[in-house]
Amino acid sequence: MKELLLGIESSCDETAAAVVRGGREILSSVVHSQIEEHAIYGGVVPEIAGRSHLKKILPVVDAALADAGVDLQGLDAIAVTSRPGLIGSLLVGLSAAKGLAFTSGLPLVPVHHIEAHVFAASMECDDPPYPCIALVVSGGHTALYRAESPLVMTRLASTLDDAAGEAFDKVAWLLGLGYPGGPAISALAREGRPDAIRFPRYRPKDGGLGFSFSGLKTAVLYHLRGGDALAATPAPDEIEGRADVAASFEEAVVDALVRQSVRACEREGLPCLLVAGGVACNERLRSVAHERAQAAGIEVTFPSPAYCTDNAVMIAGLGWELLRADRRAGWDVDAQAR
Ligand code: KG4
Ligand code: ZN
Repeated sequence: MKELLLGIESSCDETAAAVVRGGREILSSVVHSQIEEHAIYGGVVPEIAGRSHLKKILPVVDAALADAGVDLQGLDAIAVTSRPGLIGSLLVGLSAAKGLAFTSGLPLVPVHHIEAHVFAASMECDDPPYPCIALVVSGGHTALYRAESPLVMTRLASTLDDAAGEAFDKVAWLLGLGYPGGPAISALAREGRPDAIRFPRYRPKDGGLGFSFSGLKTAVLYHLRGGDALAATPAPDEIEGRADVAASFEEAVVDALVRQSVRACEREGLPCLLVAGGVACNERLRSVAHERAQAAGIEVTFPSPAYCTDNAVMIAGLGWELLRADRRAGWDVDAQAR
């Protein structure tokens, strides 16, 4: 049985590599974050991301192999994120993986980044709860899936505009909190009251399961302008009740995410929910999801925070499932942004 996989991830602003045995046993995990390189711009700059991956990809792979105590000859396959993501970033990881796999005669397994996030939520469970509903909430994606297994997922609904993580990042910018916004808002929110300001929650008119966060972001902006859309936006140190704004904004996002997830479980008749992606680190989301899921008789699972944000453990893990299903790729496999 082919068991030892190197995983490579470079779809956004983390260069990561990991060695995982049998889709579960983590032998190493190395993540180089580019946060400092993007922070002054308040978000990820694709050109900078691609160049930084290029510099880091081989050192990160070397470190993952060294930490695991294996060399390329000791591996059984190489799994790599091929989609979706920033095209220039994806190409760096995919080209490196192709080169390494080709020269060492290893199978190459392309992995879908979103499916890997969902797999991360199940890989720490003794008894993965499929079929289930999966909520993927990150900087680039916010969507609900029906997952029959790690390899069979159908999208039920997604955001009409901003991803939840993107909304955290943009509101953090307004509040002068820097990038990435999620952890910063979450920290400030602990000092504020979640019910101080009633920000709007999007409710799809058709009763559907979708999300929308751009109206919420605008509502925060208008609130900061004292209700006058045309007024100037105050400088961060002039904002009154910043912690209350952070807590009330966080509450509105969490409320929308949990409400739609519980509805998806009920509609699909599935009493299990997996939550994955960077925003799944959020403490308030974790506690509200557990509380409301319990009340609705739903079992909810979150990955450890290290496997919520982008990492290569989830790529090597799902890669093993794909390899077992013989879903390896030819050398012509291409990166796909969407
Ligand atoms: O999954 P991820 O690492 O990258 C993407 O695939 O997008 O997610 C990054 C996103 C960022 O928008 C960041 O602000 C958000 O996850 N995030 C959080 C928290 N930690 C990270 N959002 C809310 N609360 C957090 N604690
Ligand atoms: Zn991601």
